[in-house]
Order: sequence, then structure tokens, then C-alpha cells
Amino acid sequence: MENIIRQLEAKRAEARAGGGQRRIDAQHAKGKLTARERIELLLDEGSFEEWDMFVEHRCVDFGMEDQKVAGDGVVTGYGTINGRLVFVFSQDFTVFGGSLSEMHARKICKIMDKAMQVGAPVIGLNDSGGARIQEGIDSLAGYAEVFQRNVLASGVVPQISLIMGPCAGGAVYSPAMTDFIFMVKDSSYMFVTGPDVVKTVTQEVVTQEELGGAITHTTKSSVADLAFENDVEALLQTRRFMDFLPASNRERPPHRPTEDPVERTEPSLDTLVPANPNKPYDMLELIEKIADEGDFFEIQPGFAKNILTGFIRIGGDPVGVVANQPMVLAGCLDIDSSRKAARFVRFCDCFNIPIVTFVDVPGFLPGTAQEYGGIIKHGAKLLFAYAEATVPKITVITRKAYGGAYDVMSSKHLRGDVNYAWPSAEIAVMGPKGAVEIIFRADIGDTEKMEARTEEYRKKFANPFIAGHRGFIDDVIMPHNTRYRIARSLKLLREKDQENPWKKHDNLPL
Ligand code: HXC
Repeated sequence: MENIIRQLEAKRAEARAGGGQRRIDAQHAKGKLTARERIELLLDEGSFEEWDMFVEHRCVDFGMEDQKVAGDGVVTGYGTINGRLVFVFSQDFTVFGGSLSEMHARKICKIMDKAMQVGAPVIGLNDSGGARIQEGIDSLAGYAEVFQRNVLASGVVPQISLIMGPCAGGAVYSPAMTDFIFMVKDSSYMFVTGPDVVKTVTQEVVTQEELGGAITHTTKSSVADLAFENDVEALLQTRRFMDFLPASNRERPPHRPTEDPVERTEPSLDTLVPANPNKPYDMLELIEKIADEGDFFEIQPGFAKNILTGFIRIGGDPVGVVANQPMVLAGCLDIDSSRKAARFVRFCDCFNIPIVTFVDVPGFLPGTAQEYGGIIKHGAKLLFAYAEATVPKITVITRKAYGGAYDVMSSKHLRGDVNYAWPSAEIAVMGPKGAVEIIFRADIGDTEKMEARTEEYRKKFANPFIAGHRGFIDDVIMPHNTRYRIARSLKLLREKDQENPWKKHDNLPL
């Protein structure tokens, strides 16, 4: 028995050593933590239970039969984050460059299957040279097994990918199918084909960082949601992030007691919207002022800044926030903002997270770039997402809600549960000036007449009351009471039960 225990300890020590001290030092020299150090930071202290520590690859080509490292380049298992269960895999770059073999993939699949069965999130820490080149098709098969599980788990348990090193070729498609991608600046990259191939094929000269680094993917491509300075920040922020999410689609998001009273009023909000309707203001201020303790976890802050998306809590319960940002493109909807918000709304709907929408939208952004780029189809994504969502939906129109964009932004007609307007709201087909120029085209040369007509139109339509007469908004609320009114509505809607007609799945415009 003693002998066996000694052997066990020796095997564990060997697995923990990964690819050996030289490679661990090389990992540290690049500013990266090792697979195990990352897990230690991500999970509650002492909560990690490792599975499959003794798994080895079965490859016998290219001398691989003599090169076996226990664990085969990925550390897998489960633990807790602030007491709540999560499954985790962490690729070990010190073992065959974290490359994915048949057995490496099997380890990942095992925790994904279990996560789906018990209803717990999967967090993947990616740091890999891609397919284990010595294994060929067995490695490709392994990737596809993971992909298949990513799809089956989508909408069942939250899936979060942290990219903390290389992630290239077809390997990018597993993170791409997860709910959120967080990247580390300077030490991680994602691309389908690297700079060398790009140069050969298109003659473009580009660095790894420019082609697929954290800044590129959080500002240009929108492949990734957040970029962090280093491994430690990425892991600690992931812990904070997980506190907003339920463990699965069968649960509510977790309640966290707060000292911040829901009745708290914010007098400064009464003067947030400027008297001049063409003057911008910062919608972020409104979000932070109504959130518990001003805590807003923003998603994709660097992309499509004309719409804000992210999580806050009200009365201790997580809600997803979508808000037009008048500071950027006057808050217009365009291709990028529609895609960004649509995906966010769908995530919230999958995971029982109520959606609060703040509206100040003058319409869709005009231009050939938008039309040729397919704003019709991309704008439809957001409309579709709101219309199919059955979670509680609360809308507050702070200023403009014009045209089709009014309909899109969680209007009453798309089953908005509680729709409020501030006294400054203007709910109309378009702004007064544009409207008058169309209705009274004959008078365009007569400035005085046009000004009078514009004023007449403004008085008639640039207010919340016509929509109020129709019942399209439920109440006009004082801005300083916004937090309380939303909190009351959330409480009212807590047991909301709404179902869409049976279907295999919908046909979202892609
Ligand atoms: C086996 C690999 C490997 C791989 C790296 N290693 N990638 N072993 N299969 N894919 C090994 C190296 O041999 C080396 O072993 C160790 O990992 C560290 O690699 P280095 O090259 O020394 O590290 P670094 O300089 O940091 O470069 C990292 C790298 C580079 C950029 C990832 O290793 C690289 O280009 N690797 C090949 C990438 C690749 O072509 N992968 C296949 C792509 S196709 P030693 O023993 O020296 O420490 C693909 C398809 C997926 O992934 C399809 C999914 C559908």
C-alpha cells in the first residue's frame, strides 16, 4: 500500500510539473502564468478538484511513444467561484505547446458533458499551439468533438473563453461558439491564418498583435468582448463577471444582498438630458447612477460605442442593460451596434436575466456603407432578438425614440413588459425638422413659415404624451425615481411566464 501511495504521489508530482521547469520559466518570461497558476487564481482557494490527471496520449508516431506527460497538456476539473460551481479546463503550454490531442480533447469533452448534466458554467483557459501535429486526424476529430459540445451547451450553461496565448487556425472556432471571449493584451492572439500566410496570399504585412491581438478583436472585429492587461486581471475580472450569471438556463441569476436601497433617488438625473435636443449627454452616467453601488460590468466597451451593453444589479438581482449612447453617432443604430446588442439580448434571454433598455435613438445611421454592409439584415437581428425574448423587459425612453428604431428598442409592441418615458421623451416617426421638410415641402424657401411649422410639430409630437394616450408607454416617470421604478417593475415581473410557439428553432437573420 505504502508503495502504491508513493507511486501515486510521484505521478501527481510529475503531472504538476507539466513540461518541466525550463518551459515553465519560458512561460513566465513571456509574462504568462502556467495552467495551474491560472486555475488557482480563478477558483476559490482549495476548491479545485482535478480530473484525468493521469491521462496520456496514445500516439506512437514520430517518437511520441517515448514522450508522454501525465495530463497531456490540459488541466481539467471543477471548483467554485465565490462558492458557486464551475467547470474549468486550462491548456498547459509547457506540454507540447498546449496542443490538442485526441486525449486532450477527451478531457475537455468530459467536463463539458458533466457541466451540461449538472447545470454549471464551463470556463476555458486557452493557450495552445493548435492541433497536435504528430496526431493528424485524431486531433481534428478531437476539435470537432469539442465544437459539437459547444453547440449543444449553447443556451444551456454559460460558456466563457479566456484567450491567454496562441489560438489559431480552426482552433478559434471553439471559443467563437462560446458566450463570451476575454483576451489578454500582448500575450494572446486569435486568427484563422497567421501573418506569414496572410503575407503570401494577400501581400499584406501585419504583426500577430495587429492581426489578431486583444485590441484588434475588442475594437475592430468584435470577436472578443474584453481585453485585459495581464493574466491576473483577466482571471480576477472573470470571477467578478461570473457573479452576474446563473449556473444554467434552469436557474435565476444569483441574488447578492446590497446595502444600496432600491428607493434611492438621484436628483442629478433630472438635469441629465440637456434642453437642446441636439446636445449629447453620457448615458453611462444614467446606468451607473441606477445600478447597485454604481457597479456596471460593461461588455464590448471598445466596439460600437453608440450602444452600451453590460450587467448591473438592482436590489441585488442581476439585469442586462442595453442603452443607446448619444455621445457617439448621436446614439444611432448601425450594423455594429445592432449586432452587438442583439447578441447580448439573446444571451440574457437564454439565461433568465431581465433586460432593461434605455432609449435615446434618432434612427438608423444613413449611408452607402450601411446599406451595402447589410444594415437591413443586421438591424433585423436586434429587432428579432427583442421580439423573441421572453425574460422581463423594462424600457425607459429618456429622449428620442424615432421611427423604426423606436419599434426596435424593446417597444411595447415587441412585448415590452413595462415601458416608461421621461418627461423629455420625444416619440415620433422622425425629428420635427425632418418631418416638416417632408410634409411642407412647398414652404421650404420660407424660413419663418418653416420655423413655425417645426415648432408646431415639436409641440404636437416631441413629447411622451401621444404614445401615452395610446398606452404604448405605461407611465411618464421622473428621472430621479428611475431606479425605484425599475426595481418595482422587476419585482412585479419576477414570476413572469411567457412562451413562444413551439418550433425546432427560429431562423434569425444571419
Ligand atoms: C505539437 C507543438 C505544437 C503543435 C507547438 N508545439 N505547437 N507540438 N503540435 N501544434 C510544441 C513545440 O514543438 C515546442 O516543443 C513547444 O510546443 C513550444 O513551442 P515553441 O514553438 O517553442 O513556442 P513559441 O515560440 O512560443 O511558438 C508558439 C507557436 C508555435 C506559435 C504556437 O509553436 C507554432 O507555430 N506551432 C505550430 C502551430 C501550428 O501550425 N499548429 C497547427 C495548426 S492547424 P518543445 O519540445 O520544443 O518545447 C490547427 C488546426 C486546428 O490547429 C483545426 C481545428 C478544426
